[in-house]
Amino acid sequence: MASSSALSLLFFACFSISICVITNSSTTAELIRGGFYQPTKVDGSLSFLVVGDWGRRGNYNQSLVAHQMGVVGEKLGINFVVSTGDNFYDDGLKGVDDPAFEDSFANIYTAPSLKKPWYNVLGNHDYRGDALAQLSPVLRSIDCRFVCLRNFIVNADEIVELFFVDTTPFVRKYFTEPEDHVYDWRGVHPRDKYVANVIKELETALGESRAKWKIVVGHHTIRSISHHGDTQELAHLLLPLLRAYNVDFYVNGHDHCLQRISDTQSSIQFLTSGGGSKAWRGYVGSNRDGLEFFYDGQGFMSVEITETDADIVYYDVFGKRLHHFKMSKQLQTM
Ligand SMILES: *[C@@H]1O[C@H](CO)[C@@H](O)[C@H](O)[C@H]1NC(C)=O
Repeated sequence: MASSSALSLLFFACFSISICVITNSSTTAELIRGGFYQPTKVDGSLSFLVVGDWGRRGNYNQSLVAHQMGVVGEKLGINFVVSTGDNFYDDGLKGVDDPAFEDSFANIYTAPSLKKPWYNVLGNHDYRGDALAQLSPVLRSIDCRFVCLRNFIVNADEIVELFFVDTTPFVRKYFTEPEDHVYDWRGVHPRDKYVANVIKELETALGESRAKWKIVVGHHTIRSISHHGDTQELAHLLLPLLRAYNVDFYVNGHDHCLQRISDTQSSIQFLTSGGGSKAWRGYVGSNRDGLEFFYDGQGFMSVEITETDADIVYYDVFGKRLHHFKMSKQLQTM
């Protein structure tokens, strides 16, 4: 997007034997319409895992979740992993040479099935460190899987398109009441302009999408019954777009739990996968409209998708299936 124009467009391939081919080519402002291409499997399907709120040097069951992700990743033969942000606690990375990158990522998600691209957004905790470090391609020389941009698209053969949105700048209180935290707003100021650009470019990209399934990924919740609850700015600015352009799923972290909530005004499913490490907040809010599933503990989510069907499963730290749901679409006949 406009504010990310300094970044390069990357063509990225990461093979299971962990060899990466990365080609940079400079691009104009419209990053969101570039992005990454993911081929589907030979049968035309695609699968991926979703984990959020994870980087704690293996602690708080991060390692257990990582292990089970490896097991499920192997079983499904996943194409990639989606990370919903808060990648490194407590305060993001200190720089590109921060050992937390290895201690909380490279040396934790070691299963062969997870040697796939990891598409990350930034969470609010990531903005409390050197946010530009996480966006730096230098990290890929340490572990080639790590792809983190502010706003970008992953397109898989027009079966599914994922739109990654940088939601932290939407949340006003980080600017007006930062408390003891220092946020790295380089590349974001002025906030209003940045947010308006993100919305504008997302709208264009959603309008141009020919994908059967549209998935928007952000760190913050739109709907949540957990600790942080709904994010008003996203409910006001982002949700109307998701409804207008028939987005199927909004996928987020931020609340350290697993949950699924149906939108009351559309078929959008709000999917929280924020159980990558510390969880168990023990708090459940009162607005339970549309609530389908809630688990206040650690775990992750898998998505298997074809032209006509999407299968979504939530797992706990033992790899136990906690919740499963399926959505189907008619094939368009022309
Ligand atoms: C790890 O997971 C187990 C099983 O869900 C849970 O009982 C335990 O409290 C978790 N430990 C931490 C530190 O969160």
